[in-house]
Amino acid sequence: MTAALIKLLYLLAAVMFILGLKRLSSPATARSGNTMASVGMLIAIVVTLVFQEIVGWREILIGMIVGSVVGGVFARTVKMTGMPQMVALLNGFGGGASALVASAEYYRYLEAGQGVPLNFGIAIQLSVVIGTLTFTGSLVAFGKLQELVTGKAVTYPLQKILNALLLIGTLGLAVWLVIDPSNPVAFAGVILGAALLGVTSVIPIGGADMPVVISLLNSYSGLAAAMTGFVINNEGLIIGGALVGAAGLILTNIMCRAMNRSLANVLFGAFGATVQEIGGGPEGAPGDQTVRSLTHEDAATMLAYARQVVFTPGYGLAVAQAQHEVRELADMLQERGVQVKYAIHPVAGRMPGHMNVLLAEADVPYDQLYDMEQINPEFPQTDVSVVIGANDVVNPVARHDKSSPLYGMPILDVDKAAHCIVMKRSMRPGFAGVDNELFYQEKTSMLFGDAKDSFKKLIEEVRQL
Ligand code: TAP
Repeated sequence: MTAALIKLLYLLAAVMFILGLKRLSSPATARSGNTMASVGMLIAIVVTLVFQEIVGWREILIGMIVGSVVGGVFARTVKMTGMPQMVALLNGFGGGASALVASAEYYRYLEAGQGVPLNFGIAIQLSVVIGTLTFTGSLVAFGKLQELVTGKAVTYPLQKILNALLLIGTLGLAVWLVIDPSNPVAFAGVILGAALLGVTSVIPIGGADMPVVISLLNSYSGLAAAMTGFVINNEGLIIGGALVGAAGLILTNIMCRAMNRSLANVLFGAFGATVQEIGGGPEGAPGDQTVRSLTHEDAATMLAYARQVVFTPGYGLAVAQAQHEVRELADMLQERGVQVKYAIHPVAGRMPGHMNVLLAEADVPYDQLYDMEQINPEFPQTDVSVVIGANDVVNPVARHDKSSPLYGMPILDVDKAAHCIVMKRSMRPGFAGVDNELFYQEKTSMLFGDAKDSFKKLIEEVRQL
């Protein structure tokens, strides 16, 4: 097989990655996009294993079997709500693998005793620094989301200065190694510095911001892979890594915009170091404010006789796993002639596309899902908006309270419907830890309870009408 054909096959794989990514942007084409990108990866793997110089089949087979078993068990057992931490772990392993491959190349050059060519030296150091940082940073992100360590932003005096010094020291050592690669102790120093930096740069970030961090670390893992592609001269890895790097950065940007926060604010703002204390009254309600609650029977009547109902899901839908019940009720309402729509906020839940995934699992038709910009103008013509375990993404303080951490975040205008039913278990706040003005408004009625239980009761009530 000629070198040109190998390059051509890598190019084919890259085209399939790009087309696959494009198709992932709509739920209707996402499955085929996933398959297309996977086939591209298969082509790249086969070309690499069969036509490139490899260490030996035994190690590769053992690696594939162990990896497949661990991946398969994860995929089958991890709950939907645990998906962000699983993604964090996988990103971390990606970064770690890149750093290991680059380190192995460094030692190979060292043993051969002929120095490291400048271009390879730069790629090796970048891969080791970014890959190691991604590995330890992702482990901390995993620990925070899995609640193995505190989800709060951990801050201490001089934190930013110490982090900056650590970064300068690590990069300084890496530059030295590019110029004079002969010192393995300095190499160990780079690894240690990058590992520490991964930990110290993620601990000051609060649990609520972890999805943004994970997306950024995902981008880093792509960059590390691309650098490793340069180290081992593999075009497939360079292109694949660059795509992951770019996609991760774009996603990070989209999430920051949806929360109306800059990336610098997410990374250095220590959001979530303190949680606003609210709630003097029972179950977290501020003592001097009153909330109206309604019965399942009343809620069912309201819904059954409405012209248009908009369901607004949030993180609570994922916790309750009520998506199938939501769909069942929506079907019943539609049979009665009610127009049903779903309002999807870009950062509802705990990971990008969280609500889309949940609703797709229950086969909710895609054309009933509306993005924030599409659905907001519809709320004033909506009879009942039903908030299902969403909180921050429907909090009106985001519009006017400059002192609120949510200020400026675009929200779903559920309060502009004729009536708003909020389904949650208590008056506790959402992830941002701030009280929700919506709950005290005149048009709002609280339907307390686990969302799944409530939907089962609503279905029964509507059936009897
Ligand atoms: P949250 O503001 O976190 O509120 C979720 C609500 O669900 C809680 O108030 C909780 O109230 C309720 N809940 C929990 N379990 C429930 C159950 N079994 N049944 C009914 N209700 C239940 O959720 P949101 O509105 O989706 O907002 C997402 C937050 O995460 C935002 O602050 C966003 O910025 C942040 N965030 C998201 C992302 C992505 S990519 N999605 C990324 C970074 C940050 P009770 O405890 O009273 O039931």
